[in-house]
Amino acid sequence: MISFKKNDVIIVTGASSGLGQSTAIQLNELGATVIAIARNKERLNETKLKCKYPDNFHIEVKDLTEKIEELPVYIKELKNKYGKFTGLAYCAGVANIAPLQAIDLTKAKEIFDINYFAPLFMVKGFCDRRNNIGKGASIVVISSISGVKSDKGHGVYGGSKAAIAASMKSFAREVSETQGIRINCVSPSDVKTPLTAHKIEQENSKYPFGCGEATDVSNMIVFLLSYEAKWINTQNYIIDCGYM
Ligand SMILES: NC(=O)c1ccc[n+]([C@@H]2O[C@H](COP(=O)([O-])OP(=O)(O)OC[C@H]3O[C@@H](n4cnc5c(N)ncnc54)[C@H](OP(=O)(O)O)[C@@H]3O)[C@@H](O)[C@H]2O)c1
Repeated sequence: MISFKKNDVIIVTGASSGLGQSTAIQLNELGATVIAIARNKERLNETKLKCKYPDNFHIEVKDLTEKIEELPVYIKELKNKYGKFTGLAYCAGVANIAPLQAIDLTKAKEIFDINYFAPLFMVKGFCDRRNNIGKGASIVVISSISGVKSDKGHGVYGGSKAAIAASMKSFAREVSETQGIRINCVSPSDVKTPLTAHKIEQENSKYPFGCGEATDVSNMIVFLLSYEAKWINTQNYIIDCGYM
C-alpha cells in the first residue's frame, strides 16, 4: 500500500489544475507534504480546499517560464524553506496545436519554455545533492502521447514532449548512479482536464473505456514517486487505454 510520511516533501508543478491538481491532492491524502506551484493563486487555493491535510499543503505562486536559468536557485530557496525534497512531479505545461504553416518561432519557443526548458532546469535544481534526500528521491515528468505518436498539428507540442522524455532518460541514467534518484515520465493521451475541455467529447469514442480521468494519470505518477516503485527508473509510460 502506497503511503508517504510528512517529511516526504514533494514539489508538484501545475497544481492549480488538471493532472497536477489531481497528483497534489492524492499525494497529500497519502501523507506527503506538498509544495504546490502554479501562477494562479486562487486556483491553487481551490486545490488546497480539496486536500485532506491542508496544513501539509503549501502554495508557491510562480511563473516557471520567467528566468528559467534561475530555477535551480528557486529550488534551493524552496529547500531552505521546506527542507530537502523527496520528490518532484512536473505537471505544468501547455498544448498548442497548429499546422505547419501556422507555426511561428515566438509561439514555438513559448511552448518549449514551459514543456521543455522549465522542467529541465527544475530537475537540474532538484538533482543538486544539497536539495534532495538522495537515495529514495524520485522525479516524474509528464510528457505526452504526442511525443511518441505525433498527430497532425502536434509538430511543436509533440517535439517539446519527445525532447523532455529523451532528456529525462539521459538524466535518469546519470543521477540514479551518482545519487540514487529515479526519474520517469508518463505520456498520457486524451484525459479530461481544462486543457482538453474543447475536444474531449469528440475524442471519447476513440477509447474502449472513453477518455481518461485525471486520476488515471495521477495514480501512476503517485506510484512512480513512491518507495514501491524503487526498481523503476528511466521509463516513459504511455497511458492511453491501448489506443496507440
Ligand atoms: N490532459 C491531457 O489529455 C494531457 C495529455 C497528454 C499530456 N498532457 C500534459 O500534461 C500536463 C498537464 O496538463 P493538464 O491537462 O493538467 O493541463 P491544465 O489543466 O491546463 O493544467 C496546466 C497546469 O500548468 C500550469 N502552468 C501553465 N503554464 C505555467 C507557467 N508558465 N508557470 C507555472 N505553471 C504553469 C497551470 O497553472 P497556472 O495557469 O495556474 O499557472 C496548470 O496548473 C501538460 O504538460 C500537458 O501537455 C495532458
